[in-house]
Amino acid sequence: MTNDELDLDPGALAARFPKDFGWGFATSAYQIEGAATEDGRGRSIWDTFARVPGAIADGQTGDVACDHYHRYRDDIALMAGIGAKTYRFSVSWSRVLPDGTGTTNERGLAFYDRLVDTVLAAGITPLVNLFHWDLPQALQDRGGFADPSVVDAFAEYAALVAGRLGDRVSDWMTFNEPAVFAFLGHADGIHAPGLQDWPTALRVADNELQAHAAAVAAIRSRVSPARIGIAFDMNQVVPATDTDRDRRAAAQWSAARDAWFLDPLFGRGYPQLGLETHGAAGHLHGVELSDPPPGDLDYLGLNYYRRDAVSARSDKPFDWTIEARPGTEQTQMGWEVAPDGLRDVLGALHHEYAPREIVITENGAAYPDTMDPDGRVRDENRMHYFARHIAAAAEALAAGVPLTGYHAWSLLDNYEWSLGYTRRFGLVHVDFETQARTLKDSARWYGSLIAAGG
Ligand code: FCB
Repeated sequence: MTNDELDLDPGALAARFPKDFGWGFATSAYQIEGAATEDGRGRSIWDTFARVPGAIADGQTGDVACDHYHRYRDDIALMAGIGAKTYRFSVSWSRVLPDGTGTTNERGLAFYDRLVDTVLAAGITPLVNLFHWDLPQALQDRGGFADPSVVDAFAEYAALVAGRLGDRVSDWMTFNEPAVFAFLGHADGIHAPGLQDWPTALRVADNELQAHAAAVAAIRSRVSPARIGIAFDMNQVVPATDTDRDRRAAAQWSAARDAWFLDPLFGRGYPQLGLETHGAAGHLHGVELSDPPPGDLDYLGLNYYRRDAVSARSDKPFDWTIEARPGTEQTQMGWEVAPDGLRDVLGALHHEYAPREIVITENGAAYPDTMDPDGRVRDENRMHYFARHIAAAAEALAAGVPLTGYHAWSLLDNYEWSLGYTRRFGLVHVDFETQARTLKDSARWYGSLIAAGG
């Protein structure tokens, strides 16, 4: 066998994980469901943002996306065929509460009932994520996540969904990537709601931490046993060069972003270096931070994709660039492929915060796939990406990290936010004209890995 084949040997890789390891897939509502105006769904901030001229690379919306709202049975059958044991999906808040609070939409709830029943009937364990960025527009009109009233609204929504699905679902997640939602949506302006104001972003982050705690309590009072977590995206942050300036910038960025959420979630309050960094940049102007309660997590979800190199332009905090180092292997996103970073981030989380369990809640890669004349998608680059990251996860496991699951991002090619349909992350190819699904080679490979694991 060549080295490449050895890398990809599913039997050898699977043998490094316990038999009950949670292999699965992750998706999110706005990226796949479509049916944007059907059955009483209310608008979300992504419906609004996707229509802002210039906001989305191809000018497209998630109105139809993968039409999963109508094709979920087939999609779950595909997932079951690959052998998935767990499926992480999100609920569209405005589908079940069109105004964000108050009147419930029975037809929206019924969709998630059917979805959960179908997932369970396929022998797959559902993991329900409450928030993957698609805030009801009605709530945004009242200040969105920057307004403290969102905390009660989120708890009400969590109670509704947990009350409805909690007889069948015990695995929950409150937020997907709260830092991306807060910072990209409210400081960088490249995600919905498209604001560019750091104080607002830090208010949003503060309210997310409060809303997380309120939702955990709401779920726990309705679901037993419940296993509740949050998915935090943490890539490996390194200084671009070995200068003091870059090293300081990398430490400041980690504190102002990753520790900004993780420290409070693990009961430590906001990190001092993060406070100094945001403070020096003027981001805390007029912001009254709360004292967020600990996250009460049964597991920490980790979304990991890449290595980020921080390069300081000056000594001023936030006057830096964060990107892949030139000359490194990169995916179509321009993200540096760094499997050893996954091993190291897992180790760092374990040592720094000691969560009871860690679940890799997303990991995957976009490549410009092509379909060959024989109808096959030979996505070897993606297979290698997965194989190397799963091997890195195995190393972390062997080193004592309490890793219990892995969700490949993503089941289907889908709506990649501000990049529209221009990036394909699926293990299953989607023809967006016909909605035809085709398993890529990576899906077959992942299937053989799961099968080899027993
Ligand atoms: C993560 C998101 C997910 C998807 C992947 C590529 O940040 O959670 O929805 O866009 O990146």
